[in-house]
Amino acid sequence: DIMVIVYAILAYLIGSIPSGLIIGKTFFNTDVRQYGSKNIGATNTYRVIGLKAALPVFLCDALKGAAGVVLLSSYGPMYMILGGILAMMGHNWSIFLGFKGGRGVATGLGVLIALSPLVALIAFLVWGVIVYFTKLVSLGSIIAAALVPILMYFIGESYWFVGFGALAALFVIVRHWDNIKRLLAGNELKVERIKKD
Ligand code: G3P
Repeated sequence: DIMVIVYAILAYLIGSIPSGLIIGKTFFNTDVRQYGSKNIGATNTYRVIGLKAALPVFLCDALKGAAGVVLLSSYGPMYMILGGILAMMGHNWSIFLGFKGGRGVATGLGVLIALSPLVALIAFLVWGVIVYFTKLVSLGSIIAAALVPILMYFIGESYWFVGFGALAALFVIVRHWDNIKRLLAGNELKVERIKKD
C-alpha cells in the first residue's frame, strides 16, 4: 500500500515542525535557540518567554507525536509505533532545521498517550515528581524515558511496544547528551524564568 509510505513521510514532516521556534518567533519575536539551554522545547520556551508560550509549544509538540500514531493507525499497532517513532525522529532531527531539533520529550509523551495511556500517565507522574522536587526537567525526562520500556514490559504490553519504548528512550536520552554532561558537572539549568540577556 503506497499510502503507508505517504503517511510515514507525513509523520516525519509533522514531527519536524519546530513549534517552539515558530511560536517564539511569530508571537513573541524571540528565537528561543539564542537563550538558556538553546533548546526549542517547552522547557526552554518557558525559561525564555514564559508559560504563555511554553504551554502551546508543549501541546503542539505532543500533538505532533499523537498525529504520527493516528496517521498510520488503520494499518495496525506496528504501524502506529512506526508513525510515532517517525514523528519523534522529525522532532529530534528536523528536516527544517538541518537535522537538528529538540529532545523528543513532549512529542514522545504524545506518542505514548496514543499508544499506551497508562504507561504515559505513570511516566508523566514520575517526571512530575522529579521536576517538582529538583526543578531539573532534563533529569525527570531522562528517568521517565528510561522507565517507559520497563513499564511497557510489566504492564504486559506486546514486545513491539517494549521495543518502541526502548527506541524512544534512546532517542530522548541521546538528545540529552549536553544535559547529561551538565548534570554530572553540577551546572544543569533549572526550569526557572531567565532574563533575555
Ligand atoms: O524536554 C527537554 C527537557 O528535558 C530539557 O530541556 O531546555 O533544559 O535542555 P532543556
